[in-house]
Amino acid sequence: MEQTFIMIKPDGVQRGLVGEIICRFEKKGFSLKGLKLISVERAFAEKHYEDLSSKPFFSGLVDYIISGPVVAMVWEGKNVVSTGRNIIGATNPAASAPGTIRGDYAVEIGRNIIHGSDAVESARKEIALWFPDGTVNWQSSLHPWIYEC
Ligand code: GTP
Ligand code: MG
Repeated sequence: MEQTFIMIKPDGVQRGLVGEIICRFEKKGFSLKGLKLISVERAFAEKHYEDLSSKPFFSGLVDYIISGPVVAMVWEGKNVVSTGRNIIGATNPAASAPGTIRGDYAVEIGRNIIHGSDAVESARKEIALWFPDGTVNWQSSLHPWIYEC
C-alpha cells in the first residue's frame, strides 16, 4: 500500500496543532505507520529540502525547519500521497482552500505548518531519510470498512 511522509513543522507544533492534524489523517481513513517528535540539525534539514537549494528562500526555509521540534510521520493508504497533499492544501496559505490544513490554520507561505511528500518516489526517499530504522508494520481492523478489498 502507498505511503507518504508528513511533517508537522515547528510552527504547527508550537501552535498546538499536532492533535488536530493527526485527527484529520486518521478520520480520513489513513493508517499511521511511524511517528516521532524530533529536532533536526541544519545539515539534515538541508538534505530534506535539497531539491530547493537554489531557491532564494532556501536558507530561511532551513532556519524555519530547525527553529523547534517537528513531528515526523508516515501515513499509509490508497493514493495517500496525492490525497495527503489535498488535505494539506496549496503551498501558499493565501491560496489554500478553506477546509484544508493550511487553508484553515496558516497565513504565510514561510509559516505553512506542515509538509507532505509531493510524489510516490519522493515519499520513498523522505521515509528512508527520516525513518532509517523502518516503520511499524500493522493493519487496522477497520480495513474492510474503508476499502472494498
Ligand atoms: P512542502 O510540503 O513543505 O515541501 O511544501 P510544498 O511541496 O507545498 O512546496 P515546495 O516543496 O515548493 O516548498 C517547500 C517549502 O518551502 C514550502 O512549504 C514553504 O514553507 C517554503 N516556500 C516555498 N516557496 C516559498 C517562497 O516563495 N517563499 C518562502 N518564504 N518560502 C517558500
Ligand atoms: Mg514540497
